[in-house]
Amino acid sequence: AGPCDIYASGGTPCVAAHSTTRALFNNFSGALYQVRRGSDNATTNISPLSAGGVANATSQDSFCAQTTCLITTIFDQTGRGNHLNQAPPGGFNGPDPNGFDNLASATGAPVILGGHKAYGVFISPGTGYRNNTASGTAKGDAAQGMYAVFDGTHFNGGCCFDYGNAETSSRDTGNGHMEAIYFGSSTTWGTGSGNGPWIMADLENGLFSGSNVHLNSGDQTINDRFVTAVVKGQPGNWAIRGGNAASGSLTTFWNGPRPSVSGYNPMSKEGAIILGIGGDNSNGAQGTFYEGVMTSGFPSDATENSVQANIVDAGYATTSLTSGPALTVGSSISFRATTACCTTRFIAHTGSAVNTQVVDSSSNTTLKQQASWSVRTGLGNSACFSFESRDTPGSFIRHFNFVLVVNANDGSKEFSEDATFCPQAGLNGQGNTIKSWNYPTRAFRHFDNNLFAASNGGVHYFDAPAQYNDDASFVISAGFA
Ligand code: AHR
Ligand code: AHR
Repeated sequence: AGPCDIYASGGTPCVAAHSTTRALFNNFSGALYQVRRGSDNATTNISPLSAGGVANATSQDSFCAQTTCLITTIFDQTGRGNHLNQAPPGGFNGPDPNGFDNLASATGAPVILGGHKAYGVFISPGTGYRNNTASGTAKGDAAQGMYAVFDGTHFNGGCCFDYGNAETSSRDTGNGHMEAIYFGSSTTWGTGSGNGPWIMADLENGLFSGSNVHLNSGDQTINDRFVTAVVKGQPGNWAIRGGNAASGSLTTFWNGPRPSVSGYNPMSKEGAIILGIGGDNSNGAQGTFYEGVMTSGFPSDATENSVQANIVDAGYATTSLTSGPALTVGSSISFRATTACCTTRFIAHTGSAVNTQVVDSSSNTTLKQQASWSVRTGLGNSACFSFESRDTPGSFIRHFNFVLVVNANDGSKEFSEDATFCPQAGLNGQGNTIKSWNYPTRAFRHFDNNLFAASNGGVHYFDAPAQYNDDASFVISAGFA
């Protein structure tokens, strides 16, 4: 059985079921999600390998070979048509044209599930999915249950990495107009014990870790690599539960009355569905989603415990975040451009600016050092890499407003993540494409001899699709110095 078969047996059927990694019903063999590739904007649907099974990631890999792919739609598996698409503007605009949010990279969150490769949905700040015309989801004070599986190591304090029930207008229409799962380390409203991240409920104008928005120490920090997060609500009562999605059982972090502040009892749920954003399209948060559902009715703890056992059985495990020619931590390297214009140019820096310069064995020592980089374990994720300047130890290549710069490591979470890159096989067949860890739609790209974290198409001039594959492929060799 799948999670939605278990919820149905418990009398609380799924009214929305989303996953890019697997079927959530035993008999589901339809499309799980759709991807769009950069080379010709063609789309394809990705389905399970067999009914009830893991997504066919190999079909995605073939379709996306030597180009980039975005996740355009996450299909609803319940048959109700509650699909998730690119989120429109609301109280806040997204970064894409007309205020839409960004779409996620189709390859930002590779994972192994039951021995098969699959891809989750890696939400960078600015990314979001939504359905403002969902049917069958809870409205008003009606009961609902939800669970989602997240990457417990990918989060931030921004508002709001959510999955669940929200406003149909993409605007903040008041307390109690949402009931979604939140995951992250925001301290603006509620907090739990430890430093976070926490599972909280986004009930609009507040992330709740318990009765009201303050410290509720029962809501424990939970940062397993794979986290099961549960939020459920019914008239006068709601609960938070969570656990390690790869082993063990769920713990109840809160189960009690609705908040005492006006507007939350009774609730005024509107029934739209959000992923990766807040109810008003706040889009400053990050996180990774693998699977999740919304139910009709308040699931029993026993039903949720069976769903947790099903998730553990599914077998979430990690896989490599890199591909192509391998890098060695501790080595000194150079990056040679492969675009026809520029094959004698190497990534170098002039002060904090990162550019390309013509360098060869007869160049002076200063230039050789400027064009050489020490490979370090990724500051923000040890499965990837950071690049430390040879002539300015302690300074690393990072992106800032998607421009690459060399800056001193200030020790912040943001610096670490902005300075972490996951090399892939080169998009043009040569060398490596150096993907950003925290914005996996983006990679090192030279444009007018300056370096950017660029996407293949997008709102910045340096995102131009022409020559993207060549501009974003670099041959890595021994450093000059
Ligand atoms: O409740 C927290 C956030 O507050 C909601 O997600 C958003 O709509 C509002 O800004
Ligand atoms: O480069 C994109 C973002 O710009 C970085 O993550 C952040 O540090 C800056 O605001």
